[in-house]
Amino acid sequence: MKSRESRKIDHIKYALHLDDGPCATGFSDVQVLHRCLPQVDRRKVDLSTSLPGVGTLASPIIINAITGGADGVKRINEKLAVVARETGCAMAVGSQYGAVRRGLHEDTFTIVRRTDPEGVLFANVSALATPDEAQRAVDMLEAQALQIHLNSAQELAMEEGDRDFSCWLEQISEICRSLTVPVIVKETGCGMEREDAKKLLEAGVTIVDTGGAGGTNFPAIETCRYPEGNGELSRWGIPSALSLCEVAETWGWQQGIIASGGIRSALDVFKAQVLGANAVGMAGNILRLVQERGTRYTIDWIGRLQEAVKDFYTLTGCTEVGQLRQVRFYVTGNLAAALHSFSYGKK
Ligand code: FNR
Repeated sequence: MKSRESRKIDHIKYALHLDDGPCATGFSDVQVLHRCLPQVDRRKVDLSTSLPGVGTLASPIIINAITGGADGVKRINEKLAVVARETGCAMAVGSQYGAVRRGLHEDTFTIVRRTDPEGVLFANVSALATPDEAQRAVDMLEAQALQIHLNSAQELAMEEGDRDFSCWLEQISEICRSLTVPVIVKETGCGMEREDAKKLLEAGVTIVDTGGAGGTNFPAIETCRYPEGNGELSRWGIPSALSLCEVAETWGWQQGIIASGGIRSALDVFKAQVLGANAVGMAGNILRLVQERGTRYTIDWIGRLQEAVKDFYTLTGCTEVGQLRQVRFYVTGNLAAALHSFSYGKK
């Protein structure tokens, strides 16, 4: 059995070692229609977006939860916070569950607020946190929202993982009732289907992060740590684009939706917004960039990505996020087959 701290270090090590997938995100099955008469001035394109209860985000990109809570990761969080500050991206920290429960390594989280004093930051706990612990996580960071992560497949792939998921919804609902900031519930790579999205809405959750398959693969990471476990869990999960469609159908287009799981390019960002996401989360690729290429390179990379997203707004005749609703697209391949079979099943 390993400690929570050594697990966090292992996660970073294996996330850097493994590729995305093997499941495809499904965004290549989404084709957006070009407008030959864009009728817009690209210099007027404004990428700012918003999330209910949080307000305006200068960028549609969120540096999603990665780390904190272990020796040696403070520097990673500091670098990520510099990137967030310089690019206008919101940022979430990794799970604070250990810090709020045992008071350890708080400085690995507070460094983020110290580095990015004006930024939009999200605290992060598991569904096992009590309402008091959830509030302490928010206060530690002066966070504008709290992420609650759902990771049942990862837990099952871990030797030391939880096995009882029977009370998550009740616990989430309790946190929603007492917290002073909005709650974001996020999957971490296996996606959400519409019934669960509906239950989260009814429980008082303000924002969902669709966290589909196709990007960082936590069961695969856990299989590196515990090869005797259920290795097939790394081939489990709802592809990112499908998870987003499921949630958007229940929550409504851009009604508090973050898309994540293998979002890697400007076109992925744009397609996710067209499908109904207010913003997108990126984790594994940003970790790789800051660790392997450094802070300056990562800032420039995100800057170029944001400029490229503006190109796609322009080519579909849009200057702001609300106009993406009018953008026409069609779906092919597995995504089309999935959406077709669901609508067929409803009749
Ligand atoms: C994560 N992720 C994560 N999520 C969370 O809610 N709490 C956490 O503590 C962590 N820890 C963590 C560590 C490392 C090393 C990585 C790479 C990721 C999950 C992350 O926020 C995201 O949901 C998934 O990684 C899927 O997004 P990407 O990586 O495909 O963009």
